[in-house]
Amino acid sequence: MQIISISSLKGGVGKTSVTLGLASAAQAQGVPTLVVDMDPHADATTGLGVRQDAGTEDVGTLLSHPRRVSLADHVVASGWTGSTAVPAADGDGGPGGTPRILDVVRGSSRTSLYERPTTRQRELRRLTQLLEPVTRYALVLIDCPPALNGVTRMAWAASTDVLLVAEPSLFSVAGTERTLRALDLFRKEYAQGVTSTGVVANRVRPASVEHQFRLGEMERMYGDRLLPVAIPEQGNWQQIQGAAWPVHAWPGRTAAESAALFDELLSAVQRPLKDRRTQRRH
Ligand SMILES: Nc1ncnc2c1ncn2[C@@H]1O[C@H](COP(=O)(O)OP(=O)(O)OP(=O)(O)O)[C@@H](O)[C@H]1O
Ligand SMILES: [Mg+2]
Repeated sequence: MQIISISSLKGGVGKTSVTLGLASAAQAQGVPTLVVDMDPHADATTGLGVRQDAGTEDVGTLLSHPRRVSLADHVVASGWTGSTAVPAADGDGGPGGTPRILDVVRGSSRTSLYERPTTRQRELRRLTQLLEPVTRYALVLIDCPPALNGVTRMAWAASTDVLLVAEPSLFSVAGTERTLRALDLFRKEYAQGVTSTGVVANRVRPASVEHQFRLGEMERMYGDRLLPVAIPEQGNWQQIQGAAWPVHAWPGRTAAESAALFDELLSAVQRPLKDRRTQRRH
């Protein structure tokens, strides 16, 4: 099972948008996927069309006693069209036997209880313990808050991959470089299951000279960690998210182009899988 944390220290760079784009690509390709919304703002939950009164516990509550709950009892089908239409690879059904392809663990402000700097293994392993018994997904996407405190560190500790999102701007590029360094230090001691780290550029304006300059800088600074797919600034992105629709289902040429880019991004993040250890270290 590939578990990807989508992170950045800087706010508003597109973590949730990339999470939703990858979820949309995974759904379109029939990859059984779970989105874990670790941001207390719970934007991914909203964008996936899941209501806060969905009848399941939110991830913040589950994290308070990860050994005593079964995550499988608290996942909810995304509200996106098509998320229950394609049978999962193992034929596993959700509650009531409905085949499920895209599930969500709801976010809530309760997660902010864990947003404190910590190096205690007991704290850092809470999400790992919650995910350990889960086997029915091929992909888990963790939408992180814009910080490198307890919540993001807990997500990294549970992950096989970390995907950093950066805008092609001076502050974002420099901040991402610092985040990569922090991640490398953290990995050595607390997140040895992370076997791959990457950076994706988001909100790129191809005609902007400044953006092209920054993209070149990102290539030099991050080397092959910079993924070969850059997501452009999309005029209709807020409209698609506002409707809580997957980009793959939105009509029109620009949405189809975005959908194709997220298909490519999903392939790019899945690529190192073949040489990744099949078993995570616990
Ligand atoms: N490629 C894009 N094109 C156009 N708008 C975008 C793009 N990426 C993100 N946005 C918009 O920018 C805003 C911030 O994006 P998003 O919420 O995904 O960022 P974030 O990093 O998750 O933010 P936060 O740090 O608050 O969690 C949203 O309104 C989103 O619709
Ligand atoms: Mg977000």
